[in-house]
Formats: sequence, structure tokens, C-alpha cells
Amino acid sequence: MPEVTIKVDGKTINAKTGEMLLPVLLAAGFDIPHMCYNEEIKPFGACRLCLIEVEVGGRRNVVSSCSYPVTENMEIFTDTESIKKHRRMVAELLLARCPEVEQIQKLAAALGVVSGSRFAKKDEGCILCGLCTRACEQVVGASAISFVGRGPEKEVGTPFLDKSEDCIGCGSCAYICPTQYIEVKEDGDFREFPLWKVKFEFAKCKKCGQNVAPKKQIEFMMKKASIPEGWFDYCQDCREAK
Ligand code: SF4
Ligand code: FES
Repeated sequence: MPEVTIKVDGKTINAKTGEMLLPVLLAAGFDIPHMCYNEEIKPFGACRLCLIEVEVGGRRNVVSSCSYPVTENMEIFTDTESIKKHRRMVAELLLARCPEVEQIQKLAAALGVVSGSRFAKKDEGCILCGLCTRACEQVVGASAISFVGRGPEKEVGTPFLDKSEDCIGCGSCAYICPTQYIEVKEDGDFREFPLWKVKFEFAKCKKCGQNVAPKKQIEFMMKKASIPEGWFDYCQDCREAK
């Protein structure tokens, strides 16, 4: 990818054409709010928080920086009054959807939403950012969850909102969720995901007896990757101590 220079809020920075603007801007120290972006996962442009203005050939547009690629001769504006207004509006919409989620409350306050949201409140915990579904598909390769339903009924779930056959219990969905909506219960021998209606037994370390990983996750990984036989017989600490 050829290197180009782009102008951002009056400063010149280097970037490669085709790279998405958000990681370039974050790496260069610009403070761009974002909730549905992860560098390991294809961008989706769901939360609309990462809005910036891009000017190319004399035309200026508001775009989501996580899904907008670097091109030659672009000038970027990250902090205009118009962008701040757009972001506050997005924050208000998220706050109306998830009024009890602390991460959203903090984000809205940081963006200047000081007197709550003007929009009708719901009581959701999920902002439909799709990080969980994309991680499950693109990183884990299990594709156990997806968006189900349409319009106001849209939610993240398993096929037919039934017990998941494909979930392996790895917990990537819960780990990546920016609102901590995906509950994981661990009671010693089992890990449970109430939303996906599944519960997994842990494999134990043959040396110290600690939990290693859910047995189903181990089976999945052994089939998928070339991992030496017996690798998961021990927990990481005992493996490193051997
Ligand atoms: S459950 Fe979490 S990660 Fe998944 S779409 Fe909702 S907010 Fe995003
Ligand atoms: S981070 Fe770009 S739309 Fe969510």
C-alpha cells in the first residue's frame, strides 16, 4: 500500500492508502470516540461514534472513520462543531437505548451530554455493535451467534434464540462486549452463558487441578489448529513450569 501524507486538523501525518482512518488517527494521538471497532475484526460502522469530516477534491463529507479508507489528497477534521454535535446526538441515542450502562453514561458525559437523553428511554444492555457476532465468526470461527429479528426487535442471539449448538464456551463474545451485556457464570466446574442457554464443563489441569478451558472449546481448538496432543492437559502455569 503506497504511503501518502494526509492533513488532520492542520497537522500532517503519514498513512498508507487503503488503511482505515480510525486506527491511523488513534495511532497519531487523535481522540476519536469509538465503540464497535476492534483492530482484529472487520469494521462494521455500527455505533457511529467515530464520525469525522473528510474533504477530498473540495467536497466535505461526514463519515465513520472506522470504515473509511485513506486515499490521496484527503484533509480530515476530527473536532469541528458539527462533528461534536453529531457525536452528542449519537451518544444521546445510545444513552436512550442503554440508560443504565455505565460505559455509555461515561461516554455521553465525556462528549458533553450533561442532561440525559431527549429520546424515549428503553432498558437495553446491548448497543447492537456486532463485536460479539463478528468475533465469534471471524476470530473464533464458531459463528454461534448473530443478529436475529428486525427493526426494534433486532437483537443478538443464537439461531431461533434456542440453545446454541455451535457455542464452544470460549467467552470471546463476553470479553469483547463494550457494555458487558453478555453474562458469564462460573461456579467452579462449569461455565455458563445464560443468553445462549449453554453450560460447559471445564477440563482440569492434570497437575494442579485448576480449570484449563471448557472441554468443548478444547475439542474445537484441537480440530482447528495444529496444537500438540496433550497441550491442554495442563494449565498455562503448570505448562510453563514443566
Ligand atoms: S452483546 Fe455486546 S458486543 Fe454484542 S452487539 Fe451487543 S453490545 Fe455489541
Ligand atoms: S467505531 Fe466506527 S462506527 Fe463504531
